[in-house]
Amino acid sequence: MSAPLKPDRCLIVIFGASGDLTKRKLVPALYDLCRNRHLPKRCGVLGVSRTAMTDDEFRQRTKPWCEKDPAFSEDTWQHFAQRLHYQPADATDLTSFKQQLVPRLGALCKEHQTGDNVLYYLSVAPGLYDPIVMNIGASGLVTEGKRWCSINRDALPWQRVVVEKPFGHDLDSAEHLNRVLGRVFDEESVYNIDHYLGKETVQNLLVFRFANAIFEPLWNRNYIDHVQITAAETVGVEDRGAFYEKAGAMRDMIQSHLLQVLAVLTMDTPNSSRAHDLRVEQRKLLEAIRVIDEAQAPLFAVRGQYGAGEVNGEPLAAYRDDPNTAADSQTETYTAMKLLIDNWRWHGVPFFLRTGKAMRRKLTQIVVTFRPAPHPIFANMCGDEAPQPNRLVINVQPDEGINLRFIGKVPGQGTDLRNAVMDFDYAQFGGEVQEAYAHLLLDAMCGDRSLFKDRFEIEAAWRIVMPVLNYWNNHPAADLPNYAAGSWGPAEADELIAPHGPWRNPEGEVSRSKYLQR
Ligand SMILES: NC(=O)c1ccc[n+]([C@@H]2O[C@H](COP(=O)([O-])OP(=O)(O)OC[C@H]3O[C@@H](n4cnc5c(N)ncnc54)[C@H](OP(=O)(O)O)[C@@H]3O)[C@@H](O)[C@H]2O)c1
Repeated sequence: MSAPLKPDRCLIVIFGASGDLTKRKLVPALYDLCRNRHLPKRCGVLGVSRTAMTDDEFRQRTKPWCEKDPAFSEDTWQHFAQRLHYQPADATDLTSFKQQLVPRLGALCKEHQTGDNVLYYLSVAPGLYDPIVMNIGASGLVTEGKRWCSINRDALPWQRVVVEKPFGHDLDSAEHLNRVLGRVFDEESVYNIDHYLGKETVQNLLVFRFANAIFEPLWNRNYIDHVQITAAETVGVEDRGAFYEKAGAMRDMIQSHLLQVLAVLTMDTPNSSRAHDLRVEQRKLLEAIRVIDEAQAPLFAVRGQYGAGEVNGEPLAAYRDDPNTAADSQTETYTAMKLLIDNWRWHGVPFFLRTGKAMRRKLTQIVVTFRPAPHPIFANMCGDEAPQPNRLVINVQPDEGINLRFIGKVPGQGTDLRNAVMDFDYAQFGGEVQEAYAHLLLDAMCGDRSLFKDRFEIEAAWRIVMPVLNYWNNHPAADLPNYAAGSWGPAEADELIAPHGPWRNPEGEVSRSKYLQR
């Protein structure tokens, strides 16, 4: 978030080069960076996986992924392709690591004059993180990482590792992963990627909160009644049923993305926009979120699973009817959660987080509802409309923007009051919104960790959700599926928020969930 840094020359090593993430995100993001001249001049990319391929075959394979870029050009491609290389290897095997990868890395660092700067990207199944990280260490590839120093960054070569979520499956496995990473890399060299945080509006949120003086005085329990954060998807599990069965909405969305958004929204003012200062405040905030007892879980969290229904006029089969899910699956495709932050600023303000698949609308938004005016001298002057509390809505997607609801007077005789909205659309600024992965890869090359998570945040987030996950694990739900595809989720979620509710769904939409008719 600080002033734009220059990416260091480096070799990028992608483990999992034949996989889905490399195809859909990583290579297109690197091509995008090349097209926009953001890649350092001295930079190479080495793909690693077991599938046998030559450099040229890898280039042929990746070209169609780049051609999807609306601004694709043959010239840029030729320039980009020269940097692309491939090494078939079993990265879990130390012998092939030492015999094949180490010499290849050395040769490519020389060819592209990248010094010993290497960015390792773990785009493999989480079960492979441990052996790959240990092999990187055991092969002597992390020469300078332990001596990373911020005083004279250019003087020392660096080795960094980018880790994809999920960061563990629970608190124990996350702590284990962090210990393994810590044996080989300094904490400052570990980049735990969360593509959600690369989203333009989350960064906009930092600017909105900390570049404007008018909101900060209101940003506390004295003025804010409650906050809702929604991340709703219209799609079901699509072809990710096998993965999703082991994850669920709590792990996939709340533990990672939404708690991070909450931290950015509610943390104290950082000393600067530097990564370290942002990390300190976000960590402090996450550690202030109340960790409930397992037995309290039903009071603080609701789980849901979609049954058959219709989304945007199209039928969608029930989650349990997916060929890759169990017929009696307990996996939640919806989670709503109430959180309390035990600090001076937020004492007593509830934060409601919800996320779901197969919902009525695709939508990510934050709604901050303010307390009513303390002494309503204009009561009963709102005509037919009920006066609404002041509300700040931050739309993350679609249509990134911010709007503020307030009460205004209708021109003319008397005092006829109406609800009004001031609307800001980020598209008004123009400019090209950079794809999240391109942004994050560039930050990693620059050594800017402000949009990445550190181990303490990850572990704090797990501590918050573990009591609920444990309760759900120990108390299977008898009523799943409990919401219809195309609705706004289970009715219990309405009850969770009722004292402050209802959930703020887009204008004109029903706000009450439908019970699934079975
Ligand atoms: N796909 C997404 O949209 C997405 C989104 C967020 C996070 N992620 C995370 O990103 C990671 C990768 O996901 P993915 O969807 O790309 O998985 P994937 O399609 O299954 O790809 C896995 C890759 O790992 C390689 N691999 C497996 N065993 C290997 C070994 N012993 N040595 C070297 N390479 C090996 C595979 O290639 P070979 O079989 O050729 O070895 C393949 O290239 C996962 O941790 C996932 O949770 C993915």
